[in-house]
Amino acid sequence: PKEIIPVNEIPNFQSRSEEFFPAEWYKEMLEHHPVYYHEKTNTWNVFTHEHVKQVLSNYEFFSSEGHRSGIFVGANNDGEKNPHTHFTLMDPPQHRKGRSLLAAAFTPRSLKNWEPRIQKIATELVEQIEDNSIIDIVDKMAASLPSLVIADLFGVPIQDRYQFKAWVDTLFQPYDKTRLDDIELEKQKAAKEYFEYLYPIVVQKRSNLSDDIISDLIQVEVDGERFTDEQIVQMTMLLLGAGVETTSHALANAFYSLLYDDDSLYGELRNNLDLVPNAVEEFLRYRFHISKRDRTVKQDNNLLGVDLKKGDVVIAWMSASNMDENKFDDPFSIDIHRANSKRHLTFGSGPHFCLGAPLARLEIKTALEVFLQKFSHIEPVEGFDLERNLIASAPGQSLTSLPMKVYK
Ligand code: HEM
Repeated sequence: PKEIIPVNEIPNFQSRSEEFFPAEWYKEMLEHHPVYYHEKTNTWNVFTHEHVKQVLSNYEFFSSEGHRSGIFVGANNDGEKNPHTHFTLMDPPQHRKGRSLLAAAFTPRSLKNWEPRIQKIATELVEQIEDNSIIDIVDKMAASLPSLVIADLFGVPIQDRYQFKAWVDTLFQPYDKTRLDDIELEKQKAAKEYFEYLYPIVVQKRSNLSDDIISDLIQVEVDGERFTDEQIVQMTMLLLGAGVETTSHALANAFYSLLYDDDSLYGELRNNLDLVPNAVEEFLRYRFHISKRDRTVKQDNNLLGVDLKKGDVVIAWMSASNMDENKFDDPFSIDIHRANSKRHLTFGSGPHFCLGAPLARLEIKTALEVFLQKFSHIEPVEGFDLERNLIASAPGQSLTSLPMKVYK
């Protein structure tokens, strides 16, 4: 297996809350070290909007093939690269086939069909919240919605949705140095159970197609090629990995913004739900930390103003680029009316641009709308200690709980 770069050592944050919102570090890097060589990890790091975009999208010079900073699912990482299931680690043109096969399940038509289903799940979750109470929104909504939605979209029987969520939680729980072996074992067990659960569902759907992602994946064909049943299970695993924790993180952080960034936002959005979509973009720009991706230099070049050699690793810090004042006016303030919020790079850029972005956007928007319709206002709970309610996650630091008072 490839060496994994300890990316965390590059910023060297002093606390969880600093990593949760690394404004000072971004300022420092954007102003003084926009192209930064970090000796210990032997990586180049870029922060400006222009550079991040360049590194993520210019695959002729910056390849996805060496990818070493992401998390991999142990049991899914068979070492051999298959163009259907490992396209996230390939450059065009090889990247195209796997991506197109999967993209066939993420069409605008599918999205239209999914909307009422997402709405239903969000409504169920919100209905379970008691009027005028103190709740933990991470538990009640942010942590559960994305996995319940994906289980539903896969066409998994409804009564199994919570079991499904348990697998997702185990499979993608962050590694903890003190329990490395235990966690690995738990993950392998969960991966095996997940596979044994889903495989027969895929087989059964072949003769009984319906309106879900698995049925779409069974039917899609690109250049005469199709997915095998096994590949479909692997693909669903990729979707879980790429789409569940990220969306939970984004949703929890949107609520954090409503509580702590600007307490007038909630009322404003409730009075005008049409503002929600742009607010979602602004939350993704302003509150999604700390997203980053690495690429390997494919040919010597000077595109970032320094001499890069073939094989060098470049890390693009997307969340920092979202705070680039050359792109966003007054970037360190939140403004749900900002005209270009959508230019954030939280979903990447170029050929690997997040395939699930429309789904993630829809989930966050729907969750907020349903919630805003039920509750007239929300308030922070006194004494909430951010530092003690964060946990290391794929994005960086994610909220483990976010208590708030809700009023009908
Ligand atoms: C790729 C972010 C939700 C599926 C990506 C990339 C980013 C990203 C930055 C680009 C990786 C690269 O350039 O190397 C996010 C964020 C999300 C989110 C911030 C939530 C707020 C989802 C969801 C799904 C999904 C809900 C599907 C269920 C994918 C897939 C790719 C991808 C399949 C690989 C595309 C490719 O390599 O061509 N995502 N994602 N993501 N995302 Fe998402």
